[in-house]
Amino acid sequence: MSEELKRQAAATALEFVTDGMKLGIGTGSTAVHFIELLGEKVAAGLSVIGVPTSEATAELCTKVGVPLTTLDETPELDLTIDGADEIDPQLRLIKGGGGALLREKIVASASSSMIVIADGTKVVDALGKFPLPIEVMPFGLGATRVALENVCARFGLKGDLVQRKKPDGSNFVTDGQHFIIDATFGRISDVDGLDMALRAIPGVVETGLFVGIATKAVVAGANGITILDPQV
Ligand code: A5P
Repeated sequence: MSEELKRQAAATALEFVTDGMKLGIGTGSTAVHFIELLGEKVAAGLSVIGVPTSEATAELCTKVGVPLTTLDETPELDLTIDGADEIDPQLRLIKGGGGALLREKIVASASSSMIVIADGTKVVDALGKFPLPIEVMPFGLGATRVALENVCARFGLKGDLVQRKKPDGSNFVTDGQHFIIDATFGRISDVDGLDMALRAIPGVVETGLFVGIATKAVVAGANGITILDPQV
């Protein structure tokens, strides 16, 4: 059911893609549906070029025939389409469940617009139930962890800071060769302030909080598709 909803959201988002567009192409299980459907459109004659947000996405795009470029060759994009782990009413997001948050944020920020595709379970009143992925430098990890704990205390946030591991127990390493700390907060009341404070820590490379980036969300639920704009 959930896969079917993800595919419906992806199919609806595809209607916003027009000939000649320069696209940012997301990562994750919802983005996989989008890439497969985009590949069909390209095979049928749609002309687009895409910047992938991960090695996994690049591989799938190549497999289904979506032509790729880089932000060095094509630094300004028309539209990024990507999934999310949580979406709040202002279309602020938690992303990075798949570990691609850094490239996802760079690509989405280089785009004039970003459409989030998701099934209805991703829509929340307040961000934070999903553990917030924080991408950190391996160097100085102990000191970065202490700084993270201090920021959390300042914002009244309690919860575990857990370094992400692979199923075999080894460190999860991002495409950028960094580690991820997953921060379980429960509910984040000052999203914008927390994001700024976390990103001010030298060892923090990026957070999975996407603030002011998404311009639309296509959400598929049991009762059909809802298109959300940011509530201000
Ligand atoms: C990848 O790092 C993430 O940001 C994904 O976009 C996010 O985790 C959503 O993934 P699913 O579409 O698999 O739920």
